[in-house]
Amino acid sequence: KIPDEAGKTISFIELNGRLLPKFDIDCLENVPSLPLRDDDVLICAYPKCGTHWLFEISRMLIENTTNVPVQPKDDFMIEFIPQKTLASLPSPRILNSHYRFQYLPKDLKKKKTKILYIRRNPKDAAVSFYNHSKKLSKYYEYDGEFKDYLKLFVDGKVDYGSWFEYVKEWEQIISTSDLPILELTYEGMKEDPVGGIRKISEFLGTTPTEELIRDINDRCSFANMSQRKGHLTGKVEGQSIMYRKGEVGDWKNWFTVALDEWFDQIYAHKMSDSKLQFKYSL
Ligand code: A3P
Repeated sequence: KIPDEAGKTISFIELNGRLLPKFDIDCLENVPSLPLRDDDVLICAYPKCGTHWLFEISRMLIENTTNVPVQPKDDFMIEFIPQKTLASLPSPRILNSHYRFQYLPKDLKKKKTKILYIRRNPKDAAVSFYNHSKKLSKYYEYDGEFKDYLKLFVDGKVDYGSWFEYVKEWEQIISTSDLPILELTYEGMKEDPVGGIRKISEFLGTTPTEELIRDINDRCSFANMSQRKGHLTGKVEGQSIMYRKGEVGDWKNWFTVALDEWFDQIYAHKMSDSKLQFKYSL
């Protein structure tokens, strides 16, 4: 249990110094040894940065139809699902993880697994993560205020650790490794979703018709994904856990001017060794 500035605590598992959500410890520990396949796709993102969205788009592209069965992306999350279950999934598997690159399966370096990486501006990510943590009381048991959560967020005292370290590690991997990685941004996907779907399709080597691309865009819009019957409908007090607002810039409703100035200073300091750029509004 980690206390925020106001003394409200938030619960995680601590595994060798890393903070993680309270999943089964074996699943959390076994990720590096997970056997991968050449035709796996692995979606990587810091929490609340667009994993569900990419998951839906990718499986529609791979299945070549929008008529895909309802399947929670968490059933394909490699730190949440036992390896036996993952091994029983048919190919091609569309897996996902919020783990830092260094803790991902060692097989990534040996197999041709394609990596879809998406990043999102830290202000919207923090707001989304805060709401997620409050709603999922089963895991987090947290009832704090946003301004106090934000301090935990900048200190990396949240599950999966620091957003700053996460994005900088990927920045370095993308510029130095020859792994097949497609880098996307949440804001770019919002700005031009059809363009984003085309990029993903090209990367995955799928050949959808123009009509299918349009249909996927329609089916994967925030409004449609959040309405889809039986689809990840986990709700707390009538509110969907996974589909909240789906916007760029909602942070403006949560950051006071003072909090924003404080955050910008921290950002400038922590990201001084990074060339990454983020959009905070569209
Ligand atoms: P908000 O809390 O800002 O609404 P993840 O899938 O990685 O858990 O990320 C969740 C965030 O993505 C939530 O952000 C959620 O609403 C948003 N999201 C989910 N599906 C989306 C879609 N189809 N289009 C845009 N945003 C989406």
